[in-house]
Amino acid sequence: MSHHILEVKELSYSYPDGTPALSGIDVTIHHGESVGLVGANGAGKSTLLQHLCGSHLPQTGRVRVGDVPVTHGTLREVRRTVGMVFQDPDDMLFMPTVAEDVAFGPLNIGLPPDEAERRVNEALELVGAAHLKRRPPYRLSGGEKRSVAIAAVLACSPDILVMDEPSANLDPRSRRLLIKLLRGFTHTKVIATHDLDLVFDLCERTIVLHQGRVMADGPTADIFTDSSLLYCCGLEPPLSLQPREGCTAS
Ligand SMILES: Nc1ncnc2c1ncn2[C@@H]1O[C@H](COP(=O)(O)OP(=O)(O)OP(=O)(O)O)[C@@H](O)[C@H]1O
Ligand SMILES: [Mg+2]
Repeated sequence: MSHHILEVKELSYSYPDGTPALSGIDVTIHHGESVGLVGANGAGKSTLLQHLCGSHLPQTGRVRVGDVPVTHGTLREVRRTVGMVFQDPDDMLFMPTVAEDVAFGPLNIGLPPDEAERRVNEALELVGAAHLKRRPPYRLSGGEKRSVAIAAVLACSPDILVMDEPSANLDPRSRRLLIKLLRGFTHTKVIATHDLDLVFDLCERTIVLHQGRVMADGPTADIFTDSSLLYCCGLEPPLSLQPREGCTAS
């Protein structure tokens, strides 16, 4: 199952305007691991994830998906293996209807229309968005768009799931559905998020990014109880680990 491994070696990246985003990243993620990627705004989470699906190509260092180095020439193969939910769903939704958007990936990998249709229905059902099937994506709410974007990736049955802020804008019920379906996804998954409670629930391993560097990489329980590490990286412990204040009568 080596094709489910993600390997990032000495990766550095600056944007065309010169803004440095990643510096000397070394990370290996193994088959079946569930990894949370956390860090303050601007830490480099999205930039790193975009290297895992080939949206950015390494300037220095390398990225491999299994035995395949991520390059211009391998993008098709990489994107068949890695399903990426982008931070902004508008980057993923461009068809006239939700059904067509979710069918786009399955049809693009050559599935017959009836199988694509089956996958559309199943994926929309999983994220609780079946009722949106005929709607134009650009008229959906933020949370509805997020759910549809997640369905569009699930419909391709990727071997590796990479998600950038998957719970942003979701109402509590949709968030619970998301956690349930992610728990059921037993392949490799990498989740960048500010929702540390979701990471605490789902990911046995957490990577902390700070100013484009890996500051910590280890068991989630250890990282989330290291308050000085979290503080240094501009983070706070998940709510479920914070002391609750009692109600006081006024
Ligand atoms: N298109 C761009 N052009 C120039 N700089 C960029 C661009 N996109 C991101 N950056 C910069 O790269 C750095 C890393 O940004 P990135 O979006 O990866 O952070 P992030 O950890 O995902 O943040 P957030 O939690 O806000 O989503 C930041 O300094 C950011 O300002
Ligand atoms: Mg981001």
